[in-house]
Amino acid sequence: MAKVVQERRPIRALEFFSGIGGLHYGFHLSGVLGEVVSSFDVNTVGNEVYRHNFNKDPNNVSILFSQFTSIDTLSAKDIDRYQANCWLMSPPCQPYTRGGKMLDDQDPRAKALLHLIDILPKLSQPPEYIFLENVLNFETSRSRIILLTQLDSLSYTVHECLLSPLQFGIANDRLRYYLMARRRSAGPSADPTTKYSERAMVHTRWPFEGEEVSYEPVELARVLEQGVDEMEEFRVPEKDLLKSFDFRFDIVRQTDRRTSAFTKAYGSRHFYKAGSILQTKQIDVTSYDFTNPSTLIPLGLRFFTPLEVARLHAFPVPPFGAQPDPPSEPEQPAEPRSFRQPTSPPYLEFPPTVTTIQRHRLLGNSLNCWVVGELLRCVLFKMKSEEVNEW
Ligand SMILES: C[S@@+](CC[C@H](N)C(=O)[O-])C[C@H]1O[C@@H](n2cnc3c(N)ncnc32)[C@H](O)[C@@H]1O
Repeated sequence: MAKVVQERRPIRALEFFSGIGGLHYGFHLSGVLGEVVSSFDVNTVGNEVYRHNFNKDPNNVSILFSQFTSIDTLSAKDIDRYQANCWLMSPPCQPYTRGGKMLDDQDPRAKALLHLIDILPKLSQPPEYIFLENVLNFETSRSRIILLTQLDSLSYTVHECLLSPLQFGIANDRLRYYLMARRRSAGPSADPTTKYSERAMVHTRWPFEGEEVSYEPVELARVLEQGVDEMEEFRVPEKDLLKSFDFRFDIVRQTDRRTSAFTKAYGSRHFYKAGSILQTKQIDVTSYDFTNPSTLIPLGLRFFTPLEVARLHAFPVPPFGAQPDPPSEPEQPAEPRSFRQPTSPPYLEFPPTVTTIQRHRLLGNSLNCWVVGELLRCVLFKMKSEEVNEW
């Protein structure tokens, strides 16, 4: 069986746009040898959660970057000093969403990503590995073309895909764009036909080649917390329901095996296109009259709790009564595997000062750690340095 061959020095990763550390957890789940040596984000609440769980200060604000305000203020020298050979990044998605007006590279929120792309050739040693996560639509953006053109010029081999956690056996539909790039040891190719940017292909199957795997997600009952159905804090308020004439929101039951993507708006108690709502009563009722919202009141509708969303995003959270898994093997087979709820520390825990709304917002902004771990393990860290794009 093919292994993630550690023919290289241990990974020293930098995590840009780190939020609550979804990429850091994904890195742990990949089982690759190495560490995330530093992280960068401007969100103070996200940074507080990150510090709480990893015991590391994002940005090293007080030590190296007393001037740090934003990723686009980092110089090549600032980055060089980490001697990192891997970049993990999940830049803001608003430039590529309809809600964010789709301004793409003209959106001020794309500036930090464009700055990092620009800095790549100025580094004394560009990273050997690059991983990027973003939303659907990034694959058709100008920002992506700018990134691919730079990666081509620096001799990276690239793989791109659009995948949902459902394809990995997780009961959450969160279709996302992922890019994995490894720098070839040979210099830039003189042959323009090998330019990836000109013949790019975005994979939508998992794995990219061979037989597609199909894992059935487990029932939602497995991720639900006990004793929250009656809690006022999570109940969908009647007055909001009554105002929701003809909002066809996504109602799911504990026997279902799918939820829709949780966005950061879920934290503001939105329930239309912001994530699924759980039906806790009259569960034999499965057809809903959204034009008569008062009929929805007896269904006992409630929001998913932050812990439940964290489980659906495959963050490691303390197990339900069972013992945690032993730490993952440093070398793991590089073939797809079926999903197992991660239960090994470091866990995702929220400091008590972080409110439920803030937790939902941070989780809505984050990503699926298992999908990241699988892509790192089976694609990025499996790529050989001489490999020409051959998937
Ligand atoms: C899509 S979220 C990434 C979330 C993260 N992957 C996680 O697991 O929580 C984008 C993040 O970029 C941060 N961000 C946006 N612009 C930034 C900038 N110029 N410098 C540093 N961080 C920035 C935001 O605060 C946000 O946390």
